Amino acid sequence: MQRERHRQYLEAIGIDLFVSRREGGARAAVGRAPGAAAAGSDPPPAAETAARWEALRSEVLQCTRCPLHRTRTQGVFGVGPQRADWLVIGEAPGAEEDRRGEPFVGAAGQLLDAMLRAIGLDRRTNVYIANVLKSRPPGNRDPRPEEVAACLPYLARQIALLQPKIMLAVGRIAAQNLLATDVPLGRLRGQVHRFGELNTPLVVTYHPAYLLRTPADKRKAWEDLKFARSVYQQRAKAQ
Ligand code: URA
Repeated sequence: MQRERHRQYLEAIGIDLFVSRREGGARAAVGRAPGAAAAGSDPPPAAETAARWEALRSEVLQCTRCPLHRTRTQGVFGVGPQRADWLVIGEAPGAEEDRRGEPFVGAAGQLLDAMLRAIGLDRRTNVYIANVLKSRPPGNRDPRPEEVAACLPYLARQIALLQPKIMLAVGRIAAQNLLATDVPLGRLRGQVHRFGELNTPLVVTYHPAYLLRTPADKRKAWEDLKFARSVYQQRAKAQ
């Protein structure tokens, strides 16, 4: 039963949550079904889009635009279906991501996966996950402005190819860089921002690594996820 599964997900995330009765009803599915129409009126043929993704991936993996290429094990491009409606954006690969070449596969990634599952999302089927930086900063330090400037064009091209219906920025670094602001994360939450020429809705929440250190804020993160889901559902309904 969907409600029971939902409760189990929340338990797995570590949110001891009272689920209201009103929330128990059936929900619209999240994410575009495989084979459904892409956003935009006249999309390029699928083979062309796939070739553009591949070209971008190999550029990222060979990139030497900033000094991080000297210390990384490999570039971490992104993961998920190339036609996902949802795009989650984090900060930069950590040690485990650097080793495995995939975003969010360490402890924070496990929490992120559980959070996404709670709203019906899975990196294998309906959400694409990428980072602002494609290379790991040594010692997990914050990205430097010049590294962000060198790397953001790759993310911009990923966004242009994916054309997500909604973006979820996790953590201060992703949110502030995508929105070109230094407003604190707490004040960016709870509203719909707009990104790029397509005015893509963008919602902000806490980084899962922060939530691992500050479990008391998981409840607020859950509010953010529900908010993002409702923004997505309203948009899907209007189209
Ligand atoms: N933190 C991030 O922001 N991204 C990752 O891929 C892993 C940890």
